[in-house]
Amino acid sequence: MTPDHSRRNFLTRTALAIAVTPFAQLATSSTANATPVQPGIEPFRGKHQGGIATPMQSSTYFIAFDMDDTAKREDLTKLLQAWTDAAATMCAGPAQFDAKADHNQPSGESGATVGIPASRLTITFGFGATLFEKEGKDRYALAKQRPEALVDMPRFAGDQLVSERTGGDLSIQACADDPQVVEYAVRILVKLAIGTASMRWAQMGFSGGFKPGETGRNQMGFKDGTINVPTQNQTEMNKFVWVGKEGPAWMQNGSYMVIRPIRISLEHWDAMKTSFQEETVGRQKASGAPIGKQHEFDKLNLDATDTAGNPVTTENSHAAMSAPENNDGAQILRRAFSFDNGITRIAERWPPWRQLMTFDAGLLFQCYQQDPRTGFIKLFAKMAQIDMLNQFTTHTGGGLFACPPGTKPGGYIGEALFM
Ligand code: HEM
Repeated sequence: MTPDHSRRNFLTRTALAIAVTPFAQLATSSTANATPVQPGIEPFRGKHQGGIATPMQSSTYFIAFDMDDTAKREDLTKLLQAWTDAAATMCAGPAQFDAKADHNQPSGESGATVGIPASRLTITFGFGATLFEKEGKDRYALAKQRPEALVDMPRFAGDQLVSERTGGDLSIQACADDPQVVEYAVRILVKLAIGTASMRWAQMGFSGGFKPGETGRNQMGFKDGTINVPTQNQTEMNKFVWVGKEGPAWMQNGSYMVIRPIRISLEHWDAMKTSFQEETVGRQKASGAPIGKQHEFDKLNLDATDTAGNPVTTENSHAAMSAPENNDGAQILRRAFSFDNGITRIAERWPPWRQLMTFDAGLLFQCYQQDPRTGFIKLFAKMAQIDMLNQFTTHTGGGLFACPPGTKPGGYIGEALFM
């Protein structure tokens, strides 16, 4: 069977197998995507892609793809159409078994989410720099449209990026309040790519313990996400997150996404005194309040000194290093999840430099911004050198992806790029 044939075959079956409920169809017709139309359903179509301004879900599955050598521009646009349609259907409601399907034929999909609600599923697509030009080749006649902001990422101090967890021509991120829903969504989209694009790297993530209106804790035990671009404030979102008229027309209302799997030496961190942990983060562990303040949302006072004249918030603590006040006002929309891939062998970076099994766990750091040069790159260049947190963290992979705007009914993701 040729790859092309298998893809057509699957598409037909997918269309049969994923039948949405009337309730879910109602949701697909929406064009706004700020708030769910129905509880548990995030609209897929809209001005912006879902999964950016959407309130955090508890599970994620990120996956990056390489285009296959044989794929042509037409294969790419067909894939984007198929992905868009499948994503719109999956976000709209639970899959159902087709009772009339021939049981002597492969069903084309697992049925793993039959009866499971959409669980606020969002699917966000991105284009890597190599889609536009790879090793000097303009494979899809897109090189001239590569946005200036889609830069080649610089190498930062301490980077230990491995190619098996870095880059990619295309990216997909599924987020939902159910791990099975995100895993299912990615499997469906991977099947649609067969013959056009192949899996390059992937990472699942979780963000546990969230209560509405409260900041969740990361694996280090600190509240993470206290200070962020307010997603309901359009002025701030337009200033820091959404691409505006300064960008190419096909990217307007889209955003640039930086993703970095960052391993955290959890065992090392847990052995530290709480006071040292607080100095490192630059915030109090229990409340999330700035050092010397009482409440989580009290303003960081970066100029305050103690009786000996030392800064109350250590100058190279993580909070001080990342604060807009210390970075010419730079801000990013953070949307990070934790990950835990089990255990792995590692050589410790601290005395007595043991070699042993440790958790292969950490933060799937992710942020959206209008331009990575004034967002992540601006912030992280200095942080990578002297942030106290670096004693416990190692960036092991990553990518930068241009996430185009959302789609109208009938349209497909990134359509304006190909016109
Ligand atoms: C494992 C790695 C990381 C951990 C555990 C971590 C954790 C935290 C924590 C606990 C806070 C304070 C609470 C809050 O405001 O949310 C914070 C703030 C922040 N972090 Fe990170 N972070 C990590 C990596 C990064 C990286 C790579 C960046 C890249 C730019 C970054 C950017 C920021 C920013 C911008 C803030 C808000 C600062 C402010 O506006 O006051 N973080 N992070």
